[in-house]
Amino acid sequence: MLAAALIAAGWPRPLSAAERAASLYQRHCAACHGAGGAGDGPRSDRLDFPPHRFTDCSWMKLMSDATLFLAIKEGGAEIGMRPAMPAFGARLSDDEIAALVHLVRSFCAPPEPLAPSDPGATTPR
Ligand code: HEC
Repeated sequence: MLAAALIAAGWPRPLSAAERAASLYQRHCAACHGAGGAGDGPRSDRLDFPPHRFTDCSWMKLMSDATLFLAIKEGGAEIGMRPAMPAFGARLSDDEIAALVHLVRSFCAPPEPLAPSDPGATTPR
């Protein structure tokens, strides 16, 4: 039923880079980093050190895109982090890794900025 509906809606069609990254993430990363990037995947409690939460904006702010890219491509040890983070350079293309960097960043969604009329939104002096 569902498949028929999807085919009627124009599937299968080529996946966009974002969709492909999402499926790569669920396949290769979610076990440790968690389906929603909260560092709570089923394998995370078997690591000696759980992954950082990609949902933690204050942590992610400290990480450059280049660092995230290198972490995924070369593994944790390469960027001075724990070697529990595997290297994916042999399995994923640079384009796929770049799309994953974008995806990982999307887990940190900062709260909506306050509306200008909101008294809390005035800049503190
Ligand atoms: C076996 C568990 C495991 C898998 C699988 C895994 N990671 Fe990690 N990853 C880690 C751990 C642990 C760290 C933290 C290393 C540290 O902080 O020292 C890490 C760190 C990272 C970092 C560095 C930034 C940060 O906030 O810690 C990025 C980016 C990252 N992983 C992305 C990915 C992506 C994308 C995938 C899938 C392609 C993936 N990881 C798969 C365990 C894993």
